[in-house]
Amino acid sequence: MCGIVGYVGQQEAVGVVVEGLRRLEYRGYDSAGVALASAGGLHVAKRAGKLANLDKVLAEQPPAPTTTGIGHTRWATHGAPNDVNAHPHTDCHGRIAVIHNGIIENFAELRDTLERAGHEMDSETDTEVVAHLLEEVLPACDDDLGEALRTVCRLLRGAFTLVVVDAQDPDTVVAARRSSPLVVGRGDGENFVASDVSAFIAHTRDAVELGQDQVVVVTRDHVVITDFHGQPAEGTPYQVDWDASAAEKGGYDWFMLKEIDEQPQAVADTLLGRLSPNGTLQLDEMRLSDDDLRDVNKVIIVSCGTSFYSGLVAKYAIEHWTRLPCEVELASEFRYRDPVLDRSTLVVAITQSGETMDTLMATRYARAQRAKVLAICNTNGSTIPRESDAVIYTHAGPEVAVASTKCFLAQIVACYLLGLYLAQVRGTKYGDEIATILDQLHGIPAAVQIMLDGAEQVRALARELVGATSVLFLGRHVGYPVALEGALKLKELAYLHAEGFAAGELKHGPIALVDEGVPVFVVAPPRAREVLHDKVVSNIQEVRARGARTIVLAEDGDESVVPYADELIWLPRVPTLLQPLVATVPLQLFACELAAALGHDVDQPRNLAKSVTVE
Ligand code: M6R
Repeated sequence: MCGIVGYVGQQEAVGVVVEGLRRLEYRGYDSAGVALASAGGLHVAKRAGKLANLDKVLAEQPPAPTTTGIGHTRWATHGAPNDVNAHPHTDCHGRIAVIHNGIIENFAELRDTLERAGHEMDSETDTEVVAHLLEEVLPACDDDLGEALRTVCRLLRGAFTLVVVDAQDPDTVVAARRSSPLVVGRGDGENFVASDVSAFIAHTRDAVELGQDQVVVVTRDHVVITDFHGQPAEGTPYQVDWDASAAEKGGYDWFMLKEIDEQPQAVADTLLGRLSPNGTLQLDEMRLSDDDLRDVNKVIIVSCGTSFYSGLVAKYAIEHWTRLPCEVELASEFRYRDPVLDRSTLVVAITQSGETMDTLMATRYARAQRAKVLAICNTNGSTIPRESDAVIYTHAGPEVAVASTKCFLAQIVACYLLGLYLAQVRGTKYGDEIATILDQLHGIPAAVQIMLDGAEQVRALARELVGATSVLFLGRHVGYPVALEGALKLKELAYLHAEGFAAGELKHGPIALVDEGVPVFVVAPPRAREVLHDKVVSNIQEVRARGARTIVLAEDGDESVVPYADELIWLPRVPTLLQPLVATVPLQLFACELAAALGHDVDQPRNLAKSVTVE
């Protein structure tokens, strides 16, 4: 999730573009760069790190005055966050500059073809191929940049917002979108493109959201939209009525709410680019060979907090698909128990930030014991992936709110990809079985969206329960970590006593906590897992008989829970192992709304930090 801005107008472009980037920096801050187009050619400046580093370069080497420019602030997906991989990227002759948000799934094939045709690439990014493709097609498009970008877009697979400038047409900015955001800002004698309106609301509030598979050609006085085949098209015009800080949050009150809503995209992006042309699963940041993975005889997941719970969910799938034993351990406990590790142990470190000290120390310990370490991480170039033998990145984009939401879902998806990959390499699942599960995973963004569309039911419930002093969460199997995560969200945001339990453990003690009116959330497994399901239905009856107010999350159409539920939250029908990806969503919304109703700072709860870099 990168930040993108383009400008063509009458003002000094570098100022407008850099100011736009400042407003977009929340979308990514691994590196930043600009390309300014003028009759004298392109001026490209880019630097790893925060925008301040780019400011310094621009102050030391000021560009020639010009009124056309594009800028990018990066959240790295392909390639480390360094100067070379920073955007913009240019073609062989420095004529065309490209910035990009998203993932180009077929970049490796395209890069191979381009390199065989003599193109030289500097970076490890998927983006750079676009600059070289444009260089290839421009002559056949009569040097028309809009037509060239349309031609290139038809060659790309994946999700992308692209913005390009051409030194030979310095009064035009061209942009395209597929499954990534792009909005046009229409001004008076000036126009903008950006990943969101926060980049330009200081200049105009007249916005047009581009539709799927559209290209826009923007000059000082014109905005022309077409589809990828050049047919005239229309975006969706609207007036922005947010202030600048609300705009950064996309109009949401809290980053957390915005990030909850971004979950369909986070899941879809984490799944992108994982299939090879022959349909097998490929994990391209996987630096362990297939032989290394065949040699694995045990998996140990180490992580903290929400990332720990995603590991607990993953254990069920990894063991089921690979028949390898899988332990899940709190990173802070791991190295103090003298764990049994050797070269055949695969240690999986799950971390949003890549900097959590407990997890880092656990991975260092594992490597010292010669175990193989694979990181599942959302932050490209952070310490834990750097120090690991392999990494699978979650592509959730920056998570600003302290409470982790979209990264939890993306971590589960990444763990599942790992489990399926191990199954593929080790032959414990047939190709068609893996393909079926991948298809089911591809259905999850739509299922999560159904949960988001029903948010108001949960939010109303949260407002109603604002006086609760204790809330319990129950689940079995993969529903158990969901219960733990629901309780953690409530503790950290609402500062309430909340506990998650394995439903079967209830009778061994926790049931004593149940009293008249205590809210108890219960995650009911899909009916297909009959034994599991029926046990949970019994657990619901047990707590209800003791006065609990039962809030049941159950598969759509599961009439068996209706008599025992004071409140029912329907979940879309998905396979049991995928149910956490939908069942967690209402629990996140509940905690967020309850905390807001209590007047708490949802994004920065007391005593907590986003990245915990002490042991
Ligand atoms: O960056 P990490 O995933 O390693 O962080 C781990 C935990 O600190 C984190 O998940 C924490 O529990 C969140 N605040 C939970 O919402």
